[in-house]
Amino acid sequence: MELRKINLQDAAAQWEYTTALPSDENGLTNPYHGISYDEYMKKALPELISYEHPVNMPDWFVPESRYYLWDGNLLVGEFRIRHYLTEALRNGAGHIGYSVRKDLRGKGYGTEGLRLTIQIAREIIHEDEIYLRVNKDNIASQKVMLNNGAHLVSEDESHYFMRIPK
Ligand SMILES: CC(C)(COP(=O)(O)OP(=O)(O)OC[C@H]1O[C@@H](n2cnc3c(N)ncnc32)[C@H](O)[C@@H]1OP(=O)(O)O)[C@@H](O)C(=O)NCCC(=O)NCCS
Repeated sequence: MELRKINLQDAAAQWEYTTALPSDENGLTNPYHGISYDEYMKKALPELISYEHPVNMPDWFVPESRYYLWDGNLLVGEFRIRHYLTEALRNGAGHIGYSVRKDLRGKGYGTEGLRLTIQIAREIIHEDEIYLRVNKDNIASQKVMLNNGAHLVSEDESHYFMRIPK
């Protein structure tokens, strides 16, 4: 299994994944749900690639690197790393967001994908700990985090806030 950064060569598989991912699933947002391949190639892909080195973006926008988890020739999941925290991210979504293809969940991909993502995140992120947020009713994602050494730091009405030492 490997993580590959978003790229032009894997466009077809990346589009298939992105267009199928819901607009909002457990707080993981995706503005590209349902878009055509043409829209993906012309707008979404260049936009997503540019997020690692953002140009002309608002002040609140933090550089974000997007990786896909591949099992052989199969794209199985997506992992996003935000390079540093703003106040909103610190008290919100944190550093890392992820998803696994719906028909391939429960097979360990989430856990392995986060493990590989953390290895990369350690080199990228500025803070001493990796910040994560998860909905209280999202048991699968909580397990993915705990399987990777996360500890609970705080909670609000609907979320747990977890951290993994860098
Ligand atoms: C969260 C998500 C990435 C987990 O991916 P996954 O590939 O299913 O994760 P794993 O197979 O590594 O499973 C992790 C654990 O959750 C358990 N699990 C998986 N699906 C579950 C479910 N629907 N309900 C309860 N537990 C579940 C697994 O059995 C496993 O348990 P274990 O650690 O005791 O063995 C996936 O469900 C997903 O994409 N959800 C939608 C997006 C999302 O919620 N992202 C996270 C936002 S914080």
